[in-house]
Amino acid sequence: MLIKKSETGFLPESLEVIGMLVNEAEPENVVLDPLRGEIRDFCRKHVINEHFYGKMGTSILLHVSGDTVKYVYIHGIGKKNEALCENAIRTGAFNVVRLAAKKGCSTIALNVPCAEDKVRSRSIAEGSILGLYKFNKYLAEDKDDTFKEPRELIVLNGNEDGINEGTVLGEAQCYVRDLANEPGNIINPQVLSAKALALADELSLECEIWNEERIRNEKMEAYYSVGRGSANPPRFIRLTYTPKQEFKEHVVFVGKGVTFDSGGLNIKPAEYMLTMKGDKSGACAVLGAIRAASKLKLPVKLSVIIAAAENMPGGNSFRPDDILRARNGKTIEINNTDAEGRLTLADALCYASELNPDKIVDIATLTGACAVALGSSTGGLFTNNDELGEKIIAASKSSGERFWKMPMDDANLRKSIKSSFADLSNCGERYGGAITAAMFLEAFVEKDIPWAHLDIAGIDFIKKPWSYYVEGASGFGMRTLASLLMEL
Ligand code: BES
Ligand code: MG
Ligand code: ZN
Repeated sequence: MLIKKSETGFLPESLEVIGMLVNEAEPENVVLDPLRGEIRDFCRKHVINEHFYGKMGTSILLHVSGDTVKYVYIHGIGKKNEALCENAIRTGAFNVVRLAAKKGCSTIALNVPCAEDKVRSRSIAEGSILGLYKFNKYLAEDKDDTFKEPRELIVLNGNEDGINEGTVLGEAQCYVRDLANEPGNIINPQVLSAKALALADELSLECEIWNEERIRNEKMEAYYSVGRGSANPPRFIRLTYTPKQEFKEHVVFVGKGVTFDSGGLNIKPAEYMLTMKGDKSGACAVLGAIRAASKLKLPVKLSVIIAAAENMPGGNSFRPDDILRARNGKTIEINNTDAEGRLTLADALCYASELNPDKIVDIATLTGACAVALGSSTGGLFTNNDELGEKIIAASKSSGERFWKMPMDDANLRKSIKSSFADLSNCGERYGGAITAAMFLEAFVEKDIPWAHLDIAGIDFIKKPWSYYVEGASGFGMRTLASLLMEL
């Protein structure tokens, strides 16, 4: 689908679907101006009859007969500058495009207040691209067989740079979803490393992949142990994007890449094991972020690191009570093999620290406890550096992906990851589980490097569609990472 801006003040009426995103106003004052003549009168009549006043999240769909225009979709985005307004715009654009695709319409015009603003046009393009998302490659017959990608979307008074940025980000999010939606029988650590290599080739990025032998020789016993029980060996992945122009910072993103988390010997009960193909979502997010950074030619050097492994029970599995030595020399006593993500991340964070970057951000489906604390539409943010924390919150606001800062200063809670026989235990008490996991990770980051940890457990996988999310992998977090880079 081609997204173009138009500079005429009116909506071209040669298009089949018209989307009107409107601010709150009395029904008779709802702005329908870009529409003309009969269509406008028709819409006005419905807006007044249905007492539609543009409240955020409300909408009306009108069928127009006897004209080129087939549908007019009017979507409220709330008061001017209302918080979350950008997300209402993404959702509105998503709905218009999805409607057109489902109805087999090939041309769309979209009118959004302040579309000339770059950020606003970015949101419009993001929502529009996500409107096309589907994961149907394994279906012989799609129930939505009329679903057809529209040919073009015209954004009235759109901002070209914003549209381009939003297109890259929206496509990157679809890429993240596509990877994360693949099941464990398709994507194992080796396949994930092949996908990373393919991405590196496509974008001319530097790429390094280590096999199991190398991982062991590199003294990553914590990470290595997680993959030991699986017939699919682990792969350590590093990609680096170096901008052509001058850059000020080197940032490292670390993504949790557990291609399937059965729990290992501390095996998960059946209902908790479902959706654990999504335990590689952090890895998918960082791959999406480097894809976006490179396509947008951002002036930041970015390395992404994935310690990919499959957590399985087997004769060669690591066990509860094992004592492992991480790359930085710290020993870890295994209390629970299902707390595996932090073990893979521990060695990845040691390696990231050795690169001596300006910032490290990791993203992981780390703890069910985080989802218990924050629900399944907000990610947890943990950091050793308030300034970085604020930058991430700002990035999260512009991406529309909610993150909430969690405390790291509870000395009492910190005691629960102590072990009598090793430097640390891999699992503390149940209460505060997301925080103790973050405290565990902190022990593997070089102290003076600003570091943040994003826990996206539970948000990585959508069970019931909402906003611009459809059932399956959400692709959550990638746009926040990309926005962080854009705002540095
Ligand atoms: N991958 C899970 C966390 C998770 C839970 C992700 C739900 C997505 C949705 C992680 O490896 C895990 O198993 N965590 C345990 C930790 C516990 C053993 C300390 C958990 O959350 O129960
Ligand atoms: Mg686990
Ligand atoms: Zn896990």
